[in-house]
Amino acid sequence: MLDKYNRRINYMRISVTDRCNLRCVYCMPEEGIKLIPHKEILSFDEIYEVAKVAVSKGVDKIRITGGEPLVRKNIVSLVRMIASLDGIKDLGMTTNGIYLPKYAQQLADAGLHRVNISLDTLDPEKYKKVTRLGDVNDVFKGIEAAKKAGLLPIKINCVIQKTKMEPDAQAVAEFCGKNDLEVRFIREMDLETGQFWRVQGGDGGECKICNRLRLTSNGKIRPCLFSDLEYDVRKLGAEKAIMLAVGNKPKSGTISMNGKFSNVGG
Ligand code: 5AD
Ligand code: SF4
Repeated sequence: MLDKYNRRINYMRISVTDRCNLRCVYCMPEEGIKLIPHKEILSFDEIYEVAKVAVSKGVDKIRITGGEPLVRKNIVSLVRMIASLDGIKDLGMTTNGIYLPKYAQQLADAGLHRVNISLDTLDPEKYKKVTRLGDVNDVFKGIEAAKKAGLLPIKINCVIQKTKMEPDAQAVAEFCGKNDLEVRFIREMDLETGQFWRVQGGDGGECKICNRLRLTSNGKIRPCLFSDLEYDVRKLGAEKAIMLAVGNKPKSGTISMNGKFSNVGG
């Protein structure tokens, strides 16, 4: 699919839940977010249908996100369903890694290719502060489990305030260098003020070459993280929602008042 600005749209990010087992300070308030009612969350069959239509139109790269995707019940089955689609060259998941010791091997067996794992600091106390709930040792175990299962290459998402020279970021970079992990630095963004930045070491945040669509956990196709445009797959059907999103994909992002990382998936 080509959009108005001749960008080839071949990448879909699918958020499977707005829930999370952590409460990272830049993502969620401590008390959690107002959760989307269960009946609004797409079923696996509905997600599969959207993915199938997207793949038939040239999407060959899919990333499963959240919230935290591994808190969605039976997530391994959904991975298996999506992995069965002919034409997917790259099937990844973005996770905080906490549940990877339990799921990494099952996910690999189901056909997941690789994982991106969030890790902003190596320091247990700081990790607890940033995530409000997490134990960084669980993430280390998760990374090991992902390696063992062959979910490679593993990329580490490290949120920074301003620069990768910050001590926590430098420590994460060094850890990655020693452990065969690719690090990507993501400057903390604010959807509501339109403060967004290129992802260093990734291609997110570069409007000119943006190849993405997003499917939110409640079934809206969003052509841009920094825009409120969305097309409801339950109302329009998957095909029409996808075509409208591609046809109306903005030239560049501005602001989003109703987008939340936990639903749109970052
Ligand atoms: N700014 C930048 N990245 C964010 N993420 C969540 N909230 C934000 C934000 N405000 C990203 C983190 C995490 C991924 C799941 O979402 O990088 O790794
Ligand atoms: Fe959960 Fe990821 Fe948001 Fe942290 S950034 S609260 S791990 S969804």
